[in-house]
Amino acid sequence: MIYTVTLNPAVDKTIILDNLVIDHVNRAQIVREDAGGKGINVSKMIKNLKGESIALGICAGKTGGFIQEQLDEMGIKHHFIQNVGQTRTNIKIVDQLHKTYTDINEVGSPILEEVLNTLEELIFSYVAKGDFLVLAGSVPSNVSQAIYKKWIQRANQVGAKVILDADREMLKEGIEAGPYLIKPNIHELEELCDQKIETIEKAIELAKDLLKDKIEVIVISRGEKGCVVVTAHETFMIEGLKVLVKSTVGAGDSMVAALTYALNNKVSLKEAMVLGVAASAATVMQEGTIMGEWETIEALKQKINITI
Ligand SMILES: Nc1ncnc2c1ncn2[C@@H]1O[C@H](COP(=O)(O)OP(=O)(O)OP(=O)(O)O)[C@@H](O)[C@H]1O
Ligand SMILES: [Mg+2]
Repeated sequence: MIYTVTLNPAVDKTIILDNLVIDHVNRAQIVREDAGGKGINVSKMIKNLKGESIALGICAGKTGGFIQEQLDEMGIKHHFIQNVGQTRTNIKIVDQLHKTYTDINEVGSPILEEVLNTLEELIFSYVAKGDFLVLAGSVPSNVSQAIYKKWIQRANQVGAKVILDADREMLKEGIEAGPYLIKPNIHELEELCDQKIETIEKAIELAKDLLKDKIEVIVISRGEKGCVVVTAHETFMIEGLKVLVKSTVGAGDSMVAALTYALNNKVSLKEAMVLGVAASAATVMQEGTIMGEWETIEALKQKINITI
């Protein structure tokens, strides 16, 4: 089974209007609300791929209730622990005239210590040998940046594989515990290695160095340029697909989802990456936080080129 964890979910509220005028009353054309947060996005994409996952995490208040209802409607299994306060709402304002995208993100309520402990016990009551555990995204400010590290250690002890998609301190700490796969984008890799990366050769060299920390697979995502994959046995590159870009939100999450889904189905890493690149490109073709559709992903898979 695949488990995703979302410690800091959000209701993504997208407001589409013709022309955003600051310091004026603006009229919205379309308003939509979606359950969001990296782990939840991963579960949504796995669903679009006709796969199964269980979304775990922490929710609070009415907005938390809305997230769980949406997951029910989508047929995604979930188990969220109740926190105090409200799950945050992130507002995305789309100005159609100027093609601007303005985000206003709430910080999210602090997580009570007992809530976090209950979630940890819940995760490890589910996760067993052979499972995949996706740890993705930020955590509220009162949670230790070493939380993923601790959970990676526990997952390794039971023989589950962790897919880690985090940045800064959480990535740095997490790596020390030896996750199965990490998917930094080029900026996250630069921060992690504390240096500018000008060439692909440099990115590969740094990734090979990181493999020494017992990571099996490193996927460096490069936005529209695609990705590079480095393991102890192989290195390959997949070019990004040329698609009509509507919103790049959720591209990384879609790649993580497709990779996890494919690896859980025991296909080769190359085949998993083909799905990852197709799924992320399909998401880029969708507005806002909407994940790419299965039919689009299947069609895009045919267009992919793997290079060494
Ligand atoms: N403009 C684009 N055109 C085509 N494919 C894209 C584009 N942007 C991203 N992708 C695909 O999505 C993958 C992940 O994108 P990116 O490297 O931007 O991840 P990220 O920065 O982690 O994203 P996120 O903001 O979701 O965390 C890329 O490797 C590529 O396959
Ligand atoms: Mg990312």
